[in-house]
Amino acid sequence: MLTLAPNDMPMRDAGRLLLSIVAPRPIAWVSTLSAGGKPNLAPFSFFNAVASNPPVVMISIGQRKGQNKDTLRNVQETGEFVLQLVNEALAEAMNLTSGDWEYGANEFELAKLETAPSLEVKPPRVANAPVAMEARVSQIIPVTGTAATLVLGRIMRYHVRADLLRLNGLVDAVALQPIMRLGGEEYTTLGRVFEMTRPKV
Ligand SMILES: Cc1cc2nc3c(=O)[nH]c(=O)nc-3n(C[C@H](O)[C@H](O)[C@H](O)COP(=O)(O)O)c2cc1C
Repeated sequence: MLTLAPNDMPMRDAGRLLLSIVAPRPIAWVSTLSAGGKPNLAPFSFFNAVASNPPVVMISIGQRKGQNKDTLRNVQETGEFVLQLVNEALAEAMNLTSGDWEYGANEFELAKLETAPSLEVKPPRVANAPVAMEARVSQIIPVTGTAATLVLGRIMRYHVRADLLRLNGLVDAVALQPIMRLGGEEYTTLGRVFEMTRPKV
């Protein structure tokens, strides 16, 4: 085994290594509105579910050249966001929205994405996304010693493409065709799906 200590490495390399280890990561494509009502859309792979009852998710937002990213600014100002899952068909559009577009740029228009209205929050959703989740910010937590900020949001409404919701109440991951982030600029699609029953103790 090679052993590496982040403190003995250039910090950038330590971070890149981590992102290739904690992989694959799901991608939340997050829509928000500025206080003035301008839409914003950007992908975040520091994304996960953190509670299920009630459902709560998190994203972690870094900084760009020492400044807060538009998504963080918007959730701080409005307390609302929508997370969509990205499938193979939307991969290129998602990537386009990750560009360092200036504050106020409308990534929906840049990526030629149709919007659909949300029901519980104001930010619109990506009409073609297979799954969208409307969320209200519950906590915003600076990550000590880093430039990252954790945003926790409670899910207020799910939108699931009708063919994806199975009779058992679960989304069909194979039909969803999600793309997931690996290290660097690598992505992956879903591999073999299998089931395991937990031990009954
Ligand atoms: C697949 C993918 C995942 C990303 N994940 C994150 C992330 O978890 N946190 C982050 O701060 N930036 C992440 N980025 C970069 C942001 O999407 C990028 O900085 C974007 O411009 C932020 O947009 P905003 O300023 O409109 O919020 C990711 C980019 C891509 C392509």
